[in-house]
Amino acid sequence: MAPTTAAARQAPSDDKRWRQVDVRMRRLGYRPDGLIEVLHTTQEVFGYLDDDALRYVGESLGVPPSTVYGVATFYSHFSLKPQGRHTCVVCTGTACYINGAGQLLEEVGRRLGVAPGGTTADGRISVLKARCLGACSMAPAVVVDGEVHGKVRPDALMAVLGTL
Ligand code: FES
Repeated sequence: MAPTTAAARQAPSDDKRWRQVDVRMRRLGYRPDGLIEVLHTTQEVFGYLDDDALRYVGESLGVPPSTVYGVATFYSHFSLKPQGRHTCVVCTGTACYINGAGQLLEEVGRRLGVAPGGTTADGRISVLKARCLGACSMAPAVVVDGEVHGKVRPDALMAVLGTL
């Protein structure tokens, strides 16, 4: 039986980051052997893999849940829990990059002492990079705890993170 395509599936939420996961799956032709790559992309944009993500990716690629969980728990690279209590995803896609995403990451690194992929020492904020959040007209875009912020300047981002 051919796997049902993601086109027929509803992403777990209307969070724009699912578009990135969908694009990845489409590029890989929804092939079951693309599982690790798709999980990697999903973790890159969300910071970790929750049940909804594992189920959605598995169903979209036609991979049984047992296999999806097996892979996600086998590789230490994958995390099934958010590392920090909050997540800050800085888009480094082309539009965001040329509009200052690099300065945003630099400022976060300088002020919070955390590099992309890392979590602040107090476990408060995990900082992640993403490739195009689908909000290019708002470049540079950042998603803080699921909320998209557009045309973000370093000071404004630090102010948002300071409220967490
Ligand atoms: S490049 Fe950042 S939202 Fe598209």
